[in-house]
Parts: sequence; structure tokens; C-alpha cells
Amino acid sequence: MGRRIVVGNWKMNQSHQEALDLASKVQSACENISEVHVILAPPFVSLIPIRDCLYGSNISLAAQNMFYQESGAYTGEISPLMLKEVCDYVILGHSERRSIFRECNETINKKVIAALKHGIRPILCVGESSRDRQLGDSITAVKLQIEESLQGLSHVGELMVAYEPVWAIGTGESASPEVIDTISSECIRSTLVSLLGDSGKAIPILYGGSVTSLNVAEFLDCDQVDGVLVGGASLDYKQFIDIVNRSQAPA
Ligand code: 13P
Repeated sequence: MGRRIVVGNWKMNQSHQEALDLASKVQSACENISEVHVILAPPFVSLIPIRDCLYGSNISLAAQNMFYQESGAYTGEISPLMLKEVCDYVILGHSERRSIFRECNETINKKVIAALKHGIRPILCVGESSRDRQLGDSITAVKLQIEESLQGLSHVGELMVAYEPVWAIGTGESASPEVIDTISSECIRSTLVSLLGDSGKAIPILYGGSVTSLNVAEFLDCDQVDGVLVGGASLDYKQFIDIVNRSQAPA
């Protein structure tokens, strides 16, 4: 396993000034942390100033979404050409994009292809809904999301997959280590290897869904988990740094 990965997804939060302040506090606190790869995903409008503020630091930047076309009449959208100079990563297929903005696997597949084409590393989010879970269909649902989102790709560059069960996002009810172990090994890892061969073994898997400084160690203890994707707790500077610190040494 390489360095642990901690991604902070700020979602649609923070004024511009708050975002800059948060980024600069995280940067100072992470100055001497080399064992954890910290990635911040602020709102689009704060990406460029935060890129400048983080210049020369060991923190990477992610966008929270991206359209797949390079340019044109797509009001409100941001293209890979615009993002590639600003950030190294992009979160794709987040469950809020899937449920609120009706993104389907086919669209997400186009986005993954476009990101890779332009050298932006996708953080592909997958996860079952509470209905899938109730019906005992979690593995089938997550497998289908991965297969369809990676359709036609035999080389995925530096893709990461984030397992974010929809029922665990923002609810305070995180998935148990047993569930994470089962989904990450029997579903995510095995699907990646069957699609991509040996290179599927090296793709980092993150867990996301009600991660806090108090429970992060449980997730990092899971065999296939290389890091965490943090929502709400990433907006609280002290808690986020606590999560980063606790991710340093093997649990
Ligand atoms: P919470 O950590 O707030 O549950 O959000 C998780 C998430 O959606 C990260 O992308």
C-alpha cells in the first residue's frame, strides 16, 4: 500500500474567503505530513485562488465535477480543458450528481474518458442506495456502476474509486468495516481486476460516508481501503487535520 489518501469534498459550502482561509490553515498544518496525500475539493470559483495559495505545498486539488465536452454551447458547465491547468483530480459520479442532477453511468463514463484524455485523475464515486441495500442488491448495484462507468477503457491512468454508500452520506450512519470489506474486496477490487487485469490491483479504493476523526481508523483498517473521502467533517479544520493525523500511521 502507498501513502494513505484523504480527500476533503467541501461540496457547495464556504464563501470565497472562508474557502481560502480553510485551505491555507490545512496547508500549514500539513506542511510536515508526508505519509498522507491530502486532496482538497473546493467549489469551482475557489479553485484558482486556492491553487495559487497551495503552490509548492504537498496538497493536491480536485474539482467536484466536470463536463465531458471540451468547449461549446453548454451553459453552466466546466470543461476538462479549463480544469487541467487548475487541478490534478476530479470527483466524478458523486451520488449527489447521480440523484439530484440525474447523472447516469453512461454520462459518467464519458466524463471519466474525457478526464483521462486530458490528464486529470478521476475519483470515481460508486455506492448502493438504501433501497439496493434493503433488497440485498449492494454488490450488483456497485458492480454495474463500475462496469458501466469504465466501459471501453483498458487503461485508466491514475484512477481512484471511492465507495460511498448513499445511505451513509451525511447521515452520521457510516458503513461497518464488515460491509466495507465485503464491498471493497468482493465487488470493487474484483470488478476492477476483471475489467483491467493486473492494473486493477493498484487502483486506490477510498471509503466515504459520515467519516469523522473518531471513526476514520476503522475504515483505514479495512484491507482494501487506501484512504477516505470526507464531506461534512472536511469543513471543520480541526477535525479534518485530526483525520489526516490519524491517517498517518497504520491503524
Ligand atoms: P459526509 O462525510 O458528509 O457523509 O459526505 C461524504 C461525501 O459525500 C464525500 O464525498
